[in-house]
Amino acid sequence: MKHEKLPSGASAETPAASPVVDEVEANWQRVVRRRSFLRGVGVAGAVALPAGKLFAQSNNGLSRGDAALLRFAAAIEFIEADLWQQYNELGGQVDHNDNPNPGNPDYIAALQNLDGDMPQYISDNTDDEISHRDFLNAYLKSKGAQPIDFHQFEILQPTKAAGALGNGRLTNLQKLTVDTSWYFRYRSTQNPDLGAKFPQLINIANQPAIPLQSTTGSSTFQAIANVAGIHFAYIEQGGSSLYPVLALKATSLEVLRILISIGGVEIDHFSLWHDKMGNAFAQPLAPLSDPTTGLTFLDFNNPANQHNAQLSAADQKAGGQMFQTNLIQPEPCQFLSPDLPACSVIRPTLSAGGGPMATVQSFIADGLFIGQDPHFLQQLMELASEAEAAHRENDN
Ligand SMILES: [Fe+2]
Ligand SMILES: [Fe+2]
Repeated sequence: MKHEKLPSGASAETPAASPVVDEVEANWQRVVRRRSFLRGVGVAGAVALPAGKLFAQSNNGLSRGDAALLRFAAAIEFIEADLWQQYNELGGQVDHNDNPNPGNPDYIAALQNLDGDMPQYISDNTDDEISHRDFLNAYLKSKGAQPIDFHQFEILQPTKAAGALGNGRLTNLQKLTVDTSWYFRYRSTQNPDLGAKFPQLINIANQPAIPLQSTTGSSTFQAIANVAGIHFAYIEQGGSSLYPVLALKATSLEVLRILISIGGVEIDHFSLWHDKMGNAFAQPLAPLSDPTTGLTFLDFNNPANQHNAQLSAADQKAGGQMFQTNLIQPEPCQFLSPDLPACSVIRPTLSAGGGPMATVQSFIADGLFIGQDPHFLQQLMELASEAEAAHRENDN
């Protein structure tokens, strides 16, 4: 068992400690106890599902660890597909049948203030996530392993705003608390894998990323669209770190190929959204304040706004580089050792900050599962626990 406690690096970056985080810790401890107990009675690595159901060996079957990695990836893709489908219904260019999407015209107009092509990008990102989910599940099945199906947990009420379909949802985009520390992380020369910590760029707490009703002032629509743009980048930077962490645990070369190939697309998504969300903090859109919530988007290209007392001394010294909105390509940072030259890399790529449990914890803190059935969270944590325990075999 590799992790007896929640990863500490991830919690340091969550926008605000909340009861839900305590609940995650309690659930995580339950998972740990259960695994310890099952090991004690001779059921090695057993979790909620019987071992035979979790992984049925076939002639060309996967190792237990590889199956766990792909099952967790499929779970994350199921979640991503659900949230992107919600964004696509309201803000996408085409619907799920590739027909023109009426969406929510006010939301679309606000998204287009970030970039005129936002609706097309949203539709493309949605397609990608659905393809990731379906491919991973089909591959698992082809190897005799159990695919992931969360349809029974599509129970959350959709928004009442025009454009949304009426079916239940797996994820909640109506009360998000978005972690924006990644913005500083990718502009810093410090690396979270070597202990660096980063504050929030902006405090987004309990905010919708989709319209909740159709009649709202234009500044409120813009604030909602801005939160969505920032949330897109948050989700995809998470995938950008998760896949390298999973890849480092893979045993079969084919599983490694799957993980680095899908992971590369998550990085592509992150880079795109990083660029677009920057427009929420640049002229002419910024500065902007939502008159009802007070949520304010500053112009971060203005030197007067380029300070944050919570940044480390080294990052404060870096000055405007930490804020500049078109600085979207990763700044070279420490990698492996401070004694080696700085290197432009994805970070984190260690499990403590970017692995399965850190990802689940971050999604919970994000508010994605507010109102969800506790059994769903339990299943997700079991899958994360299995993936955390996976390790590369025959590694010399
Ligand atoms: Fe994906
Ligand atoms: Fe993604």
